[in-house]
Amino acid sequence: MILLDGLATSQQIKQEIAVEVQHLKAQGHRPPHLAAVLVGENGASLTYVNAKVKACEEVGFQSTLVRRDGDISESDLLELVKELNSNPDIDGYIIQLPLPTHINEHNVLLAIDPIKDVDGFHPENVGRMALGLPCYLPATPAGIIELLKRYNVPTVGKHCVVIGRSHIVGLPMSILLQRNSYPGNCTVTITHSKTTNLNELCRQADIIVAALGKPEFLKADMVKEGAVVIDVGITRMADPSKKSGFRLAGDVDFAGVSGKCSFITPVPGGVGPMTIVSLLMNTLEARKRQI
Ligand code: GUN
Repeated sequence: MILLDGLATSQQIKQEIAVEVQHLKAQGHRPPHLAAVLVGENGASLTYVNAKVKACEEVGFQSTLVRRDGDISESDLLELVKELNSNPDIDGYIIQLPLPTHINEHNVLLAIDPIKDVDGFHPENVGRMALGLPCYLPATPAGIIELLKRYNVPTVGKHCVVIGRSHIVGLPMSILLQRNSYPGNCTVTITHSKTTNLNELCRQADIIVAALGKPEFLKADMVKEGAVVIDVGITRMADPSKKSGFRLAGDVDFAGVSGKCSFITPVPGGVGPMTIVSLLMNTLEARKRQI
């Protein structure tokens, strides 16, 4: 079994990005600048956004965290999006999801200028991704693709079962893995809460991407010998023995499943750090597009 070490890989990529930032600066350009918008007080979202901002600092990017109260109106948030679109000092920005329920997420994502949409959530970028045109790829799927690439994980002709059809992970992951490129050329089955024979499908899979948000859902009896398992789950579980009061659990029962795998991602230290580094790569791209 080979551990797909997202932490080590992300550190390597951060070094590569930092070198590019130095090159930009040496040519007289300012460094890339990412803004992150956080609405409300969701603890997990705050942790993720802080990690993104910290990663920017590590590679020499500028970053701005924009916080708004959870009761902000949709029109005020749209006004903020307009300001970010027209601010020439910001190359790319993200609106951390989920948004409070009184705000229509689609309206907000549609208002983002696709050129600054480094999360790749705007329909223009989603459509371009589906057509294989240049675009910003959403960070989590892009991070998984990069990890598969750097570990030379075989994907051609493999049967990949994606568990979960979210717009952030499951859906784009299924699109990327079926592309005629490497990593890709998989036969993809996308599954969801209404799928009736999930266990059977998983047992047929060469590659499983678990992105349903249910801690330790994927058990050893659902995985065939030699499978590749990608764990996108990151649920906070109460754990009084930890200083924070919680531990992070993936969607995979790692202790049970890992012995059967050819490759597997750990949680933490797998997909999470790769997501952050993909956002940095998109922001670097956004900066280069402006030059
Ligand atoms: N919420 C969970 N994952 C993500 C992500 O990749 N980007 C944003 N903006 N929100 C998220």
